[in-house]
Amino acid sequence: MTANTYVGAVDQGTTGTRFIVFDHGGQVVANAYEKHEQIYPEPGWVEHDPMEIWENTKSVITQALGQAGISPDQLEAIGVTNQRETTLLWDADSGKPVHNAIVWQDRRTTDRVEELEANDLVEEIREKTGLEADAYFSATKAEWLLDNADPIKMERSRPDDIRDRAERGDVLFGTIDTWLIYNLTGQHVTEVTNASRTMLYNIHDLDWDDDLLAEFGVPREMLPEVRPSSDDETYGTTDPEGFLEAEIPVAGALGDQQAALFGQTCFDAGDAKNTYGTGSFFLMNTGNEAVTSDHGLLTTIGFQRSGEDVQYALEGSIFITGAAIEWLEDVSLIDNPAQTAELARSVDSTDGVYVVPAFTGLGAPHWDQRARGTIVGMTRGTKREHIVRATLESIAYQTRDVAEAMEADSGIEMTSLKVDGGAVKNNYLCQLQSDIIGSEIVRPVVDETTALGSAYAAGLAVGYWDDVDSLRNNWQVDREFEPEMDSETADARYGRWQDAVDRSLGWAND
Ligand code: G3P
Repeated sequence: MTANTYVGAVDQGTTGTRFIVFDHGGQVVANAYEKHEQIYPEPGWVEHDPMEIWENTKSVITQALGQAGISPDQLEAIGVTNQRETTLLWDADSGKPVHNAIVWQDRRTTDRVEELEANDLVEEIREKTGLEADAYFSATKAEWLLDNADPIKMERSRPDDIRDRAERGDVLFGTIDTWLIYNLTGQHVTEVTNASRTMLYNIHDLDWDDDLLAEFGVPREMLPEVRPSSDDETYGTTDPEGFLEAEIPVAGALGDQQAALFGQTCFDAGDAKNTYGTGSFFLMNTGNEAVTSDHGLLTTIGFQRSGEDVQYALEGSIFITGAAIEWLEDVSLIDNPAQTAELARSVDSTDGVYVVPAFTGLGAPHWDQRARGTIVGMTRGTKREHIVRATLESIAYQTRDVAEAMEADSGIEMTSLKVDGGAVKNNYLCQLQSDIIGSEIVRPVVDETTALGSAYAAGLAVGYWDDVDSLRNNWQVDREFEPEMDSETADARYGRWQDAVDRSLGWAND
């Protein structure tokens, strides 16, 4: 490391794109963010425009460097972290997407997943990929795109030849990490945690699975090469003729939830974190062992460093938490997210109201694609404060759902949980979370752990940081929250929450 050098991280999330510059102490030096459009072509469908995401990525990198007065060649490496599972295809010649990206929340392939269930493929998928068969993952999205992408948007292609072109490697598949690395470096690669979310990748053999590729009609030729999360060989470098006018190694990438695990320095088996973003994702490192869940959790890859074995993780994926707060704003129950704490505190309880924000079905531990958002327990006296409070409480209850599953699967009793993500700035939520799960909540000073994790992965690869111990030394506690609610009250409320969840299940069957 030379003086005045930094590592940058692109954090491409569901609602926006951020670029953060970190110094050697893991502190934020500059931070720029831009939102992108959420496209809802039909109920239950969610798309993003990949070109908008790439344009925003360039813009936030330029803005952040400008903010801090840093020149691109002061960046020793760039890491990438991203919303996972979101899937796109692009034309290898033009580099242009053939369709909008299909976002992880999208439910258009629900019927196809039910066909897999009917054909008894669920167990095989679980064994090979560690995942529950669900429209959440990339496989059915890629299949849908190969069947339905509008060929007119693809230059020089005939209406019927997307699959043919994919078989020749002229149409490429990628998750968002792949798309960004391709645009930054020209290389068609992904990394192992992102691959583990496609439902096409065998997490034990560490290779794309031929049977699953055949099932979903995805040609191997269109798939990216799978690389470690922290790659000493680097994925590639930025183009000195490109927008940064510098050759910077892009050397680390992780799906955003695994990046947060890495940024929270959960390097050892038993280390766990919960990230509160659009959804919430609770991951526990299980070391070199891929632990199979009996309680509705996913087995996934946590991270891999060059030359080392992969580390696995158990994951509880909760689809809607922060997005429920956005919904409160959309329907004008609040003016901004910060107001939730004040409104929730202004009443003693939810007065028996429970909000189950199953807007896109329910993930762990229920895995019900047809669950839908439900509010129960309202009376003529229900006020918006009760609904706002019940929405915040739903975040804490959903976390308890996965925390209980995690304890049951791992046999490890949770006494303390590291948290991060935008919503943990809200002290009210952190206290509530501690009360509902009955354990300590620990918030670190740097809560941008997603970006930090990918910066760490990239920085380790190029030698900016020597080893994981120096990263552990960077981690500092901001605040700890201890349970204040008695456990009988917490259990009773949680019991009513479970009743409310039952009401939401299967709602979209009709
Ligand atoms: O699996 C989806 C997840 O990666 C999305 O994360 O932070 O964009 O809500 P986030």
